[in-house]
Amino acid sequence: LRKKIAVLGATGLVGQQFAWMLADHPYFEIEALAASDRSAGKRYGARLEHVVGGTVPGKLREFVVESIDPKSLAKRGVEIAFSALPSETAGSIETELANLGIAVFTNASAHRMDPDVPVIIPEANAEHIALVDSQRKRRPGFIVADSNCSVSGLVIALKPLMQFGLKDVTITTYQAVSGAGYPGEASLDVIGNIIPFIENEEGKVEKETRRILGTLSKGRIRDASFDINATCARVPVHYGHLESVVAELETCPDPREIVQTLRKFRGVPQKLLLPTAPLEPLIVKDDEYRPQPLLDSCAGTPERAAGMSVTVGRIAKKGRKLRFILLVHNTIRGAAGTSILNAELALKQKYL
Ligand SMILES: NC(=O)c1ccc[n+]([C@@H]2O[C@H](COP(=O)([O-])OP(=O)(O)OC[C@H]3O[C@@H](n4cnc5c(N)ncnc54)[C@H](OP(=O)(O)O)[C@@H]3O)[C@@H](O)[C@H]2O)c1
Repeated sequence: LRKKIAVLGATGLVGQQFAWMLADHPYFEIEALAASDRSAGKRYGARLEHVVGGTVPGKLREFVVESIDPKSLAKRGVEIAFSALPSETAGSIETELANLGIAVFTNASAHRMDPDVPVIIPEANAEHIALVDSQRKRRPGFIVADSNCSVSGLVIALKPLMQFGLKDVTITTYQAVSGAGYPGEASLDVIGNIIPFIENEEGKVEKETRRILGTLSKGRIRDASFDINATCARVPVHYGHLESVVAELETCPDPREIVQTLRKFRGVPQKLLLPTAPLEPLIVKDDEYRPQPLLDSCAGTPERAAGMSVTVGRIAKKGRKLRFILLVHNTIRGAAGTSILNAELALKQKYL
């Protein structure tokens, strides 16, 4: 029997991505598509101003968008809420849902720094899900967050490098406009331009990366100890955040060994054969002109995991410093896809 789920913020860019990926999911069944009062009462297929991917899956077109009513969702047997709400709105709604016994998998940053809310990118830190046990001492449901979209790609690439002694990370991002939601930046500000600042982004990248790659012990996360410096820019690209990374390692192997290490890397989702897990979390390109957002954002097999692989290229070494470029699909691996993977993990590990 599939579990009943609700998508919150279903009309936005991440919410649509959730709906598309959940429309025929083997474990989950959509019970409600919810958004603001602006959308409530309208048919989903007719409400969307900007349709991700160009079409709304047939079975979702006739859904009527609801406003968010946590008590009614609980009464209807909704066990899981996938949240794509703006952070300002998400905080209190997600808390209320968890207090009602619902498991919330969120993309909003509102609860990411709560000490007992795990921020999970499961290839990097699936074991942090044990923090759910601490939350359950204070409420029947729980919240599991996924990270900022740039961080999701970065931690998957850094995880297999930790064995070489990660000391310092410098990251520069080239982030797609869809990262700001719909309608996002004014077109006149961003077409033919680069904006060298994204509010609050650099701090999130630095904090969340160290938290995710940190260790869980006695119900608390101890952040990883490497230094990290982030610079984040918005570029006129639709989907896909490109990131230039320089990582200082205690011992930096030959780039060929790094390539092998990254190609061989598999995480818990691959071992558990979760439906949305990409077969290869990291795809390494030999071609110096890759990865590119247009060519590589949707990397990942099987079909359900398209957009879930992180593509890496331009691997080079200078002394103990390793340089590479990575690309992550911001609304799939950086948002909806990872939340779904987290819910699959929670189900498989009997937290649901
Ligand atoms: N875009 C990305 O790449 C990305 C990546 C990672 C994380 N995130 C995070 O994911 C969340 C969603 O981002 P997005 O890009 O999808 O934003 P978006 O396109 O602006 O969508 C926002 C959604 O929230 C709904 N909403 C807004 N105010 C509401 C309210 N007061 N009550 C109920 N629903 C409300 C909107 O409904 P209406 O249509 O009815 O207004 C819409 O469905 C944000 O927290 C964002 O930071 C985004």
